[in-house]
Amino acid sequence: MKALVLSGGSGTRLRPFSYSMPKQLIPIANKPVLEHVLENIKALGVTEIGIIVGDRAPQIQAVIGDGSALGVRITYIPQEEPLGLAHCVAIARPFLGDDDFVMYLGDNMLPEGVGQIADEFTAGRPAAQVVVHKVSDPRAFGVAELDADGRVERLVEKPQEPKSDLALIGVYFFTPAIHRAVDAIEPSPRGELEITDAIQWLVTNGDEVKASEYEGYWKDTGRVEDVLECNRKLLDDLEPSTAGEVDATSTLIGTVVVEAGAKVVGSRIVGPAVIGAGTVVTDSHIGPHTSIGKDVVLTGTSIEYSIALDGATVSHVRGLRSSIIGRSASVGPSDQSPRHHRLVVGDHTRVEVAA
Ligand code: DAU
Repeated sequence: MKALVLSGGSGTRLRPFSYSMPKQLIPIANKPVLEHVLENIKALGVTEIGIIVGDRAPQIQAVIGDGSALGVRITYIPQEEPLGLAHCVAIARPFLGDDDFVMYLGDNMLPEGVGQIADEFTAGRPAAQVVVHKVSDPRAFGVAELDADGRVERLVEKPQEPKSDLALIGVYFFTPAIHRAVDAIEPSPRGELEITDAIQWLVTNGDEVKASEYEGYWKDTGRVEDVLECNRKLLDDLEPSTAGEVDATSTLIGTVVVEAGAKVVGSRIVGPAVIGAGTVVTDSHIGPHTSIGKDVVLTGTSIEYSIALDGATVSHVRGLRSSIIGRSASVGPSDQSPRHHRLVVGDHTRVEVAA
């Protein structure tokens, strides 16, 4: 079996971060979402992985490379425009050949893995097997309607009035039968070749399409709130370790990771929390549920349920919560005008201050 990971697209819901980085590289517990995805695929024993990349390809390639660090072999497949999930399958055809494959959306997190579902697919080999998860509001997702034996009867993309609470989550298992379906469908009203339409085509033409319910934790990390919530979940499963320096006046409580080369001075860190390599934390209070990236400088700051990306600087800000601070961003008092707030805030940025 091969794998096809979708990491193109525009990521507009994750602005402003997606202006400068592909959403699949947003770190969760200090590791890009895409790396979590590739590890999950490797856990299935699949090492031949094609990654669909859009205009942010160079950044993805810089982080993931040829995959050897993760023990997999990556083939990059450029997509000129985000023309839909089924379009990704069409352009990956030379890579996929006539092999079965798992298609995995590069912004979806399923930390418990899909090993059992992969085994079911290999054993029964239906034309397609989708992974579904019960959600309270399915309108933002593809929705599956099943018969009593778990066979798919109907799939609808983002229905206004969903007929079931089973959302399609970002993992699909396919035999080469999907290629006929992709060739047969037309673009949807939103102009995309929808994978739901291709799978529906298989159903309509009498091919077997099964659904398996994933009952573990799942998150589509498409929005800031989802990224923070997913970070919380992954930090809860963290193993503590202290490779960096923690001075005698600092306290670490609960599960805390201090990576090599990080320095914690006169601070209190309440886990679960992770402090990235090369970061310096001074006179600060961090956590719980906080990930601090690499080479960050935190001084006189308190921050919880948040993420600071690599190279950020935060000084003398108390009470930060539910925040994501971008790469090399700087938050702190003004040198020139101590009585004023000075903001240099990018497009679609959100600043919320306590009144
Ligand atoms: O998250 C689950 C949902 O993912 C499913 O319930 C829906 O049925 C499915 O259509 C999809 O919906 P989204 O609106 O969330 O898809 P999004 O545009 O975010 O794209 C999913 C991933 O695929 C994302 O990593 C970007 C990538 N992508 C997307 C398109 C449209 C591509 O690489 N190329 C594309 O052309």
